[in-house]
Amino acid sequence: MSDYSNSGRNRDSNVPSAVQSESSARTTVTITGTGSCIPEKILTNDDLTKLVETTDEWIVSRTGIRERRIAAPNETASDMAVRAGVRALESAGLGPGDIDLVIVATITPDMLFPSTACLVQDRLGMRNVCAFDVEAACSGFIYITEIASAMLQSGRFRHALIIGTEKLSSILDWSDRSTCVLFGDGAGAAVLSREDNPGEGRVEVVDTLLGSDGSASNILYMPGGGCRIPASADSVAAGYHFLKMNGREVFKVAVRIMERAALEILQRNNVPLEKVRCIIPHQANVRIIEMLSERMKLPMDRFHVNLDLLGNTSAASVPLALDEAMAEGKISDGDYVVLVAFGAGLTWGATLLRRHEKSL
Ligand code: UT7
Repeated sequence: MSDYSNSGRNRDSNVPSAVQSESSARTTVTITGTGSCIPEKILTNDDLTKLVETTDEWIVSRTGIRERRIAAPNETASDMAVRAGVRALESAGLGPGDIDLVIVATITPDMLFPSTACLVQDRLGMRNVCAFDVEAACSGFIYITEIASAMLQSGRFRHALIIGTEKLSSILDWSDRSTCVLFGDGAGAAVLSREDNPGEGRVEVVDTLLGSDGSASNILYMPGGGCRIPASADSVAAGYHFLKMNGREVFKVAVRIMERAALEILQRNNVPLEKVRCIIPHQANVRIIEMLSERMKLPMDRFHVNLDLLGNTSAASVPLALDEAMAEGKISDGDYVVLVAFGAGLTWGATLLRRHEKSL
């Protein structure tokens, strides 16, 4: 595995973007709306004890998860994405006709192709829209935040709808206790907009760093369904269409990667830890978040945690937590917020957000 430092795009370290943002009016990308979709069905730890040999005590003490949501059999990743997207549009005060870019992050698309983003574009009645999916697993939302921000900054697009959506219940082996207790379904969305002079209360996407290390692709993956192992009776019998994970390995790497990514994004923008109001980490395991808190020397009350009720929803995890944190007022004037995630690939990323106190 590679060294996880120095990840992300090259930039002029002498001119951190947070400092640039103070000095002159410039084109910014802001989060103008967020939204969520959480399926109705709750699956508790006690429910799981009827499926596999496990206990509520084991799951809570090892992961912090108490329950998760499971999509209905006929409810797909695009259905949840549409509902989260509609809510994000409403909160942005925009209509489908205002959006010119749709990006969906998912590892559980409705189909391998066409993209889930195209299904969302059609269902929302959007026209003349660029729409595509990104597969970066649990880091997916950070990846699409960066991609959308760069496309908006190019000047060719004005408003982007970005969505993380997952129906992980469709790729879980419900007889494997080491994985089926961890994951849940849901979708989270945000509208990103290009604004020349962000107004009071606007949440700016200040900076994002991304990284990857495919040499660790074998610690979290789904072997079947691609061209290497296409679907066949044998592949289904062998369980190749289920998520596979080496939990201990993922755990170790996750703590290290998220700490480095979060610290690096702060460091390169000259933002001291005390100015960080909230960290919104990928919701995989509360013990990973507790270790992050310990290593970063930031108290747990600065970390937004909702995995107790939703489990790990992969690409939906960060936007679901972001929508909740915004609704709870955890992003107030002048505050910095860090989104940070890691996932299969391996992939990782961190985004620095800041809420504007007044018009610049
Ligand atoms: O989005 C990224 C996705 N993945 C992650 O973030 C996962 C990161 N890893 C983890 O969260 C943890 O490694 C797990 C929660 C998956 C497992 O916790 P652990 O403390 O690393 O447990 P372990 O894998 O070392 O297993 C300890 C024991 C084993 O039994 P033996 O071999 O000691 O007898 C497992 O068979 O716990 C057993 N075990 C269970 N027992 C009851 C594994 N799953 C369960 C279960 N209920 N659900």
